Amino acid sequence: MSNKPLKDSVKRRTVLEGICAAGLVVPGMVGAQVLDPATLTPPQANDVLVYSYGDESGNVIGINELDADSKQIFAWAMDPVNRILRNGTRLNQVVLVRVAPDRLSDETAARSINGLVAYSGVCSHTGCDVTDWNDEFLRFQCPCHESQFDPADGARVVGGPAPWQLAALPLKDIDGAVGVAREFEGRVGFPQPGLSPFGI
Ligand code: FES
Repeated sequence: MSNKPLKDSVKRRTVLEGICAAGLVVPGMVGAQVLDPATLTPPQANDVLVYSYGDESGNVIGINELDADSKQIFAWAMDPVNRILRNGTRLNQVVLVRVAPDRLSDETAARSINGLVAYSGVCSHTGCDVTDWNDEFLRFQCPCHESQFDPADGARVVGGPAPWQLAALPLKDIDGAVGVAREFEGRVGFPQPGLSPFGI
């Protein structure tokens, strides 16, 4: 008899324990609620993005939505077949912004759809949510220690203590919705010695 299921369950438990220990589980997802491992899976090819917050929370985001060069929004990836939201860990948070196409670097343009670009929403310094927007320079700004990332150029670090750029999430058009073309490119998260499940 194969012991693969046992190995898989041990591996899954290890990842879950690592995520819980790092405080990366989304508030409200533990306790009475049992985490579905699929909610912990990073955004996958052919997922669609949905709004995380506000009146539109849970609605699929269209490729013509969002104003150019305006503040980013937060999104989750959702498997459109079984409608599983990948919101079990903060590491799956996505920031989405529309950039004027003439400002995109070639590499970033190749990952964009209709000027929309997406990145991990977790700062690479100590893991705060990248919630702020610098209106003057049209950059993401982390509220904790003011690292800045340029969404038009691969979210490279352009200020502050962040050690690396935000991981990029390549996009595509899925029947008019903002879809995921491939998994995150680059490192998601922040330096945490000993927490190898995150690949850091
Ligand atoms: Fe973002 Fe420190 S956590 S700059």
